[in-house]
Amino acid sequence: MKIAVIGSINMDLVLQVQRLPQKGETLLADHYEKVPGGKGANQAVAASRLGADVTMFGALGKDGFGDELLERLKQEKIHTEGILRTETPSGNAMITIDEQGNNTIIVYPGANFDVTEIWIRDKLELLEEAEWVMFQLETPMKTVEDGILRLKASGKNILLNPAPAKELPDSLYPMIDVITPNETELALLSGTEDIEAGARILLKKGVRQVVVTMGEEGSVAISHELAIVGKPYRVKAIDTTAAGDTFNAALLVALMEEKGMKEALSFANAAGALATTKLGAQSSLPTKEEVLELMKKGLKQNA
Ligand code: RIB
Repeated sequence: MKIAVIGSINMDLVLQVQRLPQKGETLLADHYEKVPGGKGANQAVAASRLGADVTMFGALGKDGFGDELLERLKQEKIHTEGILRTETPSGNAMITIDEQGNNTIIVYPGANFDVTEIWIRDKLELLEEAEWVMFQLETPMKTVEDGILRLKASGKNILLNPAPAKELPDSLYPMIDVITPNETELALLSGTEDIEAGARILLKKGVRQVVVTMGEEGSVAISHELAIVGKPYRVKAIDTTAAGDTFNAALLVALMEEKGMKEALSFANAAGALATTKLGAQSSLPTKEEVLELMKKGLKQNA
């Protein structure tokens, strides 16, 4: 089960506060932690912990964060030959989390914006081994567009997680096998807040399968043929950072294991829910055993 992830790698600087600050306000944090993150790297690590063979394509600065993040990816058994080291500082994210688990995230892209289409073209041979390629939108749009175009042409399956929300060129949609927006991203891409109508607009543009994540409400997969609802799991959430990334990785792993969509959504919902039960991004990503355990415990009754 070989997956390539083309995306961001960040160091997350996480501050736990009682409440999020007002404009112009200074607050003292209760807790600080430095946790590996970045949507691309989170998806790569989550897929690896769930049993996939993952190669990461991205960029890191030649700095302390860069050294540490590269080492952590290696420890997670991720192939790192696709990672460029550049003179730009490594990407990082300033994350504040309040007592209810609400967060604000500001990302400094740094070296992630050095992941150019030229770098990806240079690595096409390495990408040849992957069956599926996962993209997000924390690397330059040109890289995403050119990468998807070339990799689709060479027979790869493409999953695009359109996060953070950005508009996409219409020419990209027919090359995407699975797109996984959350409700906000879907509204931006489709121009409507109605989930089913929005998903149908993306299908009309040429995507094969739309999977919408709805946080605590679970997820729904909509294709031309059918709509399948994935019910949520009951957990005690403390930090939602990387829950979406975990959902994406788990969905892909389940689909590659040829699970039906209903079961794949269930697996992905359980994995995403578990990621909310611990603080931080990669510090919260579950193993396959943990996901299966939660699935055994059962679905939320009142969903
Ligand atoms: O999806 C969560 C991630 O978004 C964080 O790890 C942060 O680095 C940002 O990229």
